[in-house]
Amino acid sequence: MGVSVRSFAKINIGLRIGATRPDGFHELRTVYQTIALHDLLRVNVGRGCGIEIRCDAGGVPDDESNTCYRVADRVLRSLRLRAKVTICIEKKLPVQGGLGGASSNAVATLLALERALKQPLSAEERLRIASEVGSDLPLFLLGGMVLGTGRGEQVYALDDPWPLPCVIATPQVGVSTPEAFRRWDQLAAARGKLTRPPISSTINGFSHSIFAWLSGSSTGVPSRKDGDRAEALLLDLVRAGIENDFERVVFPEYPELRDVKRAMERVGARYSSLSGSGSTVYGLFASKTEARKAAERLREDGIRAQATTTLTRREYWRKMFL
Ligand code: C5P
Repeated sequence: MGVSVRSFAKINIGLRIGATRPDGFHELRTVYQTIALHDLLRVNVGRGCGIEIRCDAGGVPDDESNTCYRVADRVLRSLRLRAKVTICIEKKLPVQGGLGGASSNAVATLLALERALKQPLSAEERLRIASEVGSDLPLFLLGGMVLGTGRGEQVYALDDPWPLPCVIATPQVGVSTPEAFRRWDQLAAARGKLTRPPISSTINGFSHSIFAWLSGSSTGVPSRKDGDRAEALLLDLVRAGIENDFERVVFPEYPELRDVKRAMERVGARYSSLSGSGSTVYGLFASKTEARKAAERLREDGIRAQATTTLTRREYWRKMFL
């Protein structure tokens, strides 16, 4: 029995890094937003035992370090089942790109495997497995616009705004997330010597900015045309001053990524940011035409870029299974 599934990517709209916790992780606040770009996965279940990962793209491990392997192993244990599981990954998303590809693939495996085995897990068990395997997995159990707290694994579904056209630029640079956190710690230690607000106040400030954004003039005005709504939503986003802390450590290390953000703004993005720890830089646009033209112009400048759209929760689930 085989199940095919789309494994969608995410971007981060703002990301605040807080204190290091006793478990070594950092306290985070972020808004995750799923987008229409995706990998394709096929999960097959047969007689026997073992988990096999097949992927023709470079940089994807085929052993037990693969997030899909780790999830499949936990699903089988949780259901007390023996089976031969084969996971084929058709990779289109960049590896180490800040789009959550590996995390999304893992959740897609979980959902497809449940279907293939015809044995659904409880919502609590899904969440337990996902958060055990990585901080960025649980968001993909919700899809759409999601608030992430804790180490990023505590997730809350936010009301989806209208789908926003966006451009995803994927420079061929892999940024290591643990390394980016280490650099953040060095920066925070250096800043600690100066008189700056304690880190927890910036963490709290994030929820104020999100509140300011999502309760702004753009929401709840049904008479507006889609383009006007997008325009107002993006204006509120810029006004709210929502930023990604990783830019402060990743841009100095990879100045070419700052240049991509500048290029994104030059071609008309209303809001542009690094996604997660990068290297993806995205831009949000008020119309599909603007996004398409912007992607073309970036490609002319030698930047790998494609136009797509944010994906509401409803569309995320509607399009998931093939
Ligand atoms: O949970 P995940 O596997 O994505 O985390 C990868 C690494 O990123 C962790 O081992 C940790 O070094 C770092 N991390 C962190 N704080 C977070 C999330 C991740 O320090 N909130």
